[in-house]
Amino acid sequence: LVGHLESGLLAGKKVVITAGPTREAIDPVRYISNHSSGKMGFALAAAAAEAGATVTLIAGPVHLPTPERVQRVDVITARDMHTAAMEHTEGSDLFIGCAAVADYRPETIAESKIKKDPNSPDQTLDIKLVRNPDVVASVAAKDNRPFVIGFAAETHNVIEYAQDKLKRKKLDLIIANDVSDTSIGFNSEENAVTLVGADFEETLDKCSKRQLAGHLIELIAQQYNLQTS
Ligand code: CTP
Ligand code: CA
Repeated sequence: LVGHLESGLLAGKKVVITAGPTREAIDPVRYISNHSSGKMGFALAAAAAEAGATVTLIAGPVHLPTPERVQRVDVITARDMHTAAMEHTEGSDLFIGCAAVADYRPETIAESKIKKDPNSPDQTLDIKLVRNPDVVASVAAKDNRPFVIGFAAETHNVIEYAQDKLKRKKLDLIIANDVSDTSIGFNSEENAVTLVGADFEETLDKCSKRQLAGHLIELIAQQYNLQTS
C-alpha cells in the first residue's frame, strides 16, 4: 500500500478540495442551502489520497464519513469556505472546487426568529440577498496559484457554459456536469461528466461517483503533469 502511494500519480502533491453545500442563515432557526450531498467531492478526496496526495477536504454541512488519510475542515457558510480555501491553498499544488457554494446569502441575519404578523393581510416576505465571494475564482486569482479545477453544474448548453466559466474564472480545467437529468449529479449515487480544458475535452460515461472520481483524478493528474512539466 505504501509503495502504491509513493508511486501514485499524485505522490507528494498537496491537494485541496471543497465539497458539499454551504448554508446561509436567515435567522437562528432557518437557512438557505441546496441539495448537494457532498458525495462527489468526498469521492474525489478519497481518490486523490489513494493516488498518493496529501489531501485537505473543506466540507460544508454533510453527513458523510471522512475518507482515510484525508484532513477534513468543516465549514458552514460560503464566507467560511472562502477563508478556509484561501488559507489551506497556501503552498498547495492542486485545488478542486467541487462544492455547491450558495451564490447569495441574506444581507442580514435576524437576531431572533422571524415571526408572521397574525394581523397583517400581507402574504409575502422579502429577504434581500447579497452575493457570496467566489471561492474557486479567488483561489485561481492568487499569486503562486495551484492548478485549479472547477465544476459547472448546468441544465442546458452544458459545454458552452462550462467553457465560459473556465475562461471567466481563469481555471485550468472544468468538470461539466449536466444536472438536468436527476438520475445523475446532485444528491444522486451516480454521475456523468465531461472534463474540459482550453484545448482538451473528454467525456466520462455514467457510473458510480467512486468510479468516476478515480477516472477524474487520473485525467486531472495527466493534465497537471502536461501543463506543469
Ligand atoms: N463556486 C465557488 N464560489 C461561488 C460559486 C461557485 O467557488 N460563490 C465554484 C463552484 O464550486 C464550481 C464553480 O464555481 O467549481 C461553478 O459553480 P456554478 O454554480 O456552476 O457556477 P457559478 O459561477 O456560481 O454560476 P451560476 O450558478 O450562475 O451558473
Ligand atoms: Ca452557482
